[in-house]
Amino acid sequence: MVAQSLFPALAPTIEWRDGDLLLLDQTRLPHEIVVEHVADAAAVWRAIHELRVRGAPAIGVAAAYGLCVAVQDARALPLAQFRAELERRARWLDTARPTAVNLSWSLRRMLQRVLTCGASDTAALYDALVDEAQQIHAEDQALCEGIGRHGMPLIGQGSGVLTHCNAGALATTGLGTATAPIYAAHREGVTFKVFADETRPLLQGARLTAFELQQAGVDVTLIMDSAAASIMSQGLVDLVIVGTDRVAANGDFANKIGTLGVAIAAKHYGIPFYVACPSSTLDFRTPSGAQIEIEERCDEEVTHIAGQRTAAPGIKVRNPAFDVTPQELVTGFITERGIVRAPFERSLGSLFPAAGNAA
Ligand code: MRU
Repeated sequence: MVAQSLFPALAPTIEWRDGDLLLLDQTRLPHEIVVEHVADAAAVWRAIHELRVRGAPAIGVAAAYGLCVAVQDARALPLAQFRAELERRARWLDTARPTAVNLSWSLRRMLQRVLTCGASDTAALYDALVDEAQQIHAEDQALCEGIGRHGMPLIGQGSGVLTHCNAGALATTGLGTATAPIYAAHREGVTFKVFADETRPLLQGARLTAFELQQAGVDVTLIMDSAAASIMSQGLVDLVIVGTDRVAANGDFANKIGTLGVAIAAKHYGIPFYVACPSSTLDFRTPSGAQIEIEERCDEEVTHIAGQRTAAPGIKVRNPAFDVTPQELVTGFITERGIVRAPFERSLGSLFPAAGNAA
């Protein structure tokens, strides 16, 4: 299934067109559909940092093409100098956001290709980079398809599914991760309801998840983050599926702030809690959630709503963009190769012995 056919009115999340990188600006959705031409290294960094492209898998694909864009002005350099510039710019792009491991995974993979491609001049090396980025892009779509296939049977006729943030088509270049089973079940004619948490402070649930599910004809209801436990207590939720930005070797995982609360509430009400996780988001170099760096974002995201100040001037603010959910709250990880259950260190390791972020 091609994601684009679900959203005929939307541009692709990411497009590579004859050497140009085009990004659907997610900060403008759902009110405006604006495609940004990202023309240099600084613009790539800003697009990722400012969440115009966001969601772990989409960040990975954007970074791969972004590295190609970032070195376009260096193509006249001799090979050795070009390689040095490439490494320097890749290191810099890697600082755009810290939590989603897909960013460093994708840039590392691009640099690995440099080492193995055997190019004898700069032009050949650049072509190899573009080829690698296109492979990462195509693989991302296949990972979503696999997650959809394996996760679909979890969604029963007449059931309720709750999700948090946007781990949807907009967060990937395919069907999404948490939404892939939803789209697959919808395609098969299963009737079910989705509850989308609005996801303070940047409202990815309200602006993106509710929007894309509505566009695709899925029965979706938008709820406040603080309503999730109450909706669960009423027996309306049979299953939670969320996405992830990084899964540590022991199965602890980072995802959008608020995910931990959803997991705790799901445990309280005995609701299965699944994490949709492509192998590009596995990080076996990180032993547990305690070592995952959590992005802290600016105060204004919390003190203002739609540009209007809502909190008293001078108030102290904390704005962690992600939280870590301990593995004991996870029922299973839905991966492109199947559903993985505890003990996760063993099950993830044996299903993905050579995962992209393996130690
Ligand atoms: O800050 P964002 O919007 O990039 O956060 C996105 C999430 O937390 C997603 O759930 C995660 O990246 C998985 S996307 C398939």
